[in-house]
Amino acid sequence: MRTVKKRKTILDIASMKSAGEKISVLTAYDYPFAQLMDQAGIDVVLVGDSVGSVFSGYENTLPVTMEEMIYHTRPVVRATQQALVVADMPFMSYQVDLPDARRNAGRLIKEAGAQAIKLEGGVNMAETIAAITAIDIPVMAHIGLTPQSIHRMGGFKVQGRQDAQAAQILADARAVEDAGAFAGVLEAIPAPLAAQISAALSIPTIGIGAGPDCDGQVLVIHDILGLCDKYSPKFVKRYADVRQTIGDGISTYINEVKSGAFPSAEHSFK
Ligand code: KIV
Repeated sequence: MRTVKKRKTILDIASMKSAGEKISVLTAYDYPFAQLMDQAGIDVVLVGDSVGSVFSGYENTLPVTMEEMIYHTRPVVRATQQALVVADMPFMSYQVDLPDARRNAGRLIKEAGAQAIKLEGGVNMAETIAAITAIDIPVMAHIGLTPQSIHRMGGFKVQGRQDAQAAQILADARAVEDAGAFAGVLEAIPAPLAAQISAALSIPTIGIGAGPDCDGQVLVIHDILGLCDKYSPKFVKRYADVRQTIGDGISTYINEVKSGAFPSAEHSFK
């Protein structure tokens, strides 16, 4: 008999903080990767708008659309049994007004099957977070370095090194918790600031370039597997070199087709 595992909920994620158990999060944008990480026991799969950079080859995440997020979230939901699936709200899907934000958050739940959504912003997005959680859609917030704000930030830079900026990020963290977010991503901020925020909040913090004291960690799957040829930030740890392995496999296939070594009798019908 096929055993169907129980999918984690936002309550399980909250309990992990209380129990002092670290929360593991990875991004996925397709069925095979999502299935592999689900079977390995990942707690949360994030269908990040980083899909724009690592999958679609855009320069940044800004061009990603709702249709692309729905398209990539569906196979991730189908592939997972036990992980909580969180889908990113792309740029301009929640910034215009509250009805638009609620409608687009709802599409990620209803049409794509995600169990929660993520959006970028702190104090400036508190009203939006409250509006979405008020219709029972769990929200993961994302503060610190927010890639959709690349033009304001002038690039992907560590945030919160100056006192005023650190105070703003702490205020953002408190605002998203008060607005009802169930967790908050802290991206590219100094480790002591992330530790202070993690201790101050009752909701879990998920760090990416935010040091070891967050309640969980998230990285982009293509980064940890060495699949991208792009620049990799300091906070990325590479756990495999899949690009080399795939490149070698493809080259060997081409060589065998050219030489006639493939297909052999073994791969032919009698
Ligand atoms: O888009 C994304 O993948 C993200 C994570 C890296 C936090 O926002």
